[in-house]
Amino acid sequence: MREVYPQYGMGSNPTGPTNHKNGSLKGPSSLPFCLCASTRMKKWLEASPRKYPPSFHDKEAYYLIVKCLPFAYNKYFKLSKYDLVGRKMLKTAVIIYWSKTGNTKKVASAIKEGLEDTGFKVSLKTTEESGDIDYFDYDLVCIGFPSYEWHPPKPMADLLKSKLNKHRKEGRVKLGAPKIPGKNALIFCTYSGPHTGIDEATPAGKYVRQFFEHIGFTVVDELYILSEFHGMEEFSTKGKMGDIRGKPSDDDLTKIKKDVINLAGKL
Ligand SMILES: Cc1cc2nc3c(=O)[nH]c(=O)nc-3n(C[C@H](O)[C@H](O)[C@H](O)COP(=O)(O)O)c2cc1C
Repeated sequence: MREVYPQYGMGSNPTGPTNHKNGSLKGPSSLPFCLCASTRMKKWLEASPRKYPPSFHDKEAYYLIVKCLPFAYNKYFKLSKYDLVGRKMLKTAVIIYWSKTGNTKKVASAIKEGLEDTGFKVSLKTTEESGDIDYFDYDLVCIGFPSYEWHPPKPMADLLKSKLNKHRKEGRVKLGAPKIPGKNALIFCTYSGPHTGIDEATPAGKYVRQFFEHIGFTVVDELYILSEFHGMEEFSTKGKMGDIRGKPSDDDLTKIKKDVINLAGKL
């Protein structure tokens, strides 16, 4: 049975790709047609009572314009480094950190400033705020934490383990850990080193590094930042690293920012 399209007159068929002699599509298959058809469908959905059934092509156009195009557009911008006219788009970074007494938080802010100075779009999140984040959505993932007995503290370790389990189920943990181009990680670890110095921090950094290497990220650097042991004066004055009160100092933070600018320029 032929459908009735009031807007086109009885029995007319407004749809279907109609070829010109030169092979191009005309009228009904064009974007304006899709827009009109999807508007009709929208009106039909909103109408009460609904007078006539929507045509198959109105439905098609509606789903194309309202559902598929925005989805495709979003996917394109998530995956592509270029905009629709071929300009290079901003790179994106997320900084996820855990900080009890503020040292790591200061470093995270300095890294954010450095990245922003080089044109990165940066999100700064605590571990608690970062559960929903998909690392694969970013060009650079920065992970910061203090060393607690040569390990990352439990909230950071738990977060990384749960992410790794999720990625393993998705099939993203592959034998041989092939690198994924454009996916980078930066690890930063603050420590006080009262007993053995930086050796109290490197095991934590190496451990966290493995989480990223297992999912194909390139770890561009591990930063170890000497920092005051707040609440333990002796550990900040008489330990292996000497008097570390006030660290990271403004100078330390400026240096971190400069190092990050250098590093980001290479990505
Ligand atoms: C419970 C606890 C354990 C720590 N263990 C170590 C350690 O094993 N080695 C070390 O160098 N520093 C250790 N520290 C010092 C912190 O790593 C250091 O002060 C860090 O910068 C604190 O970061 P935050 O201010 O972001 O919390 C420890 C601190 C605390 C509170």
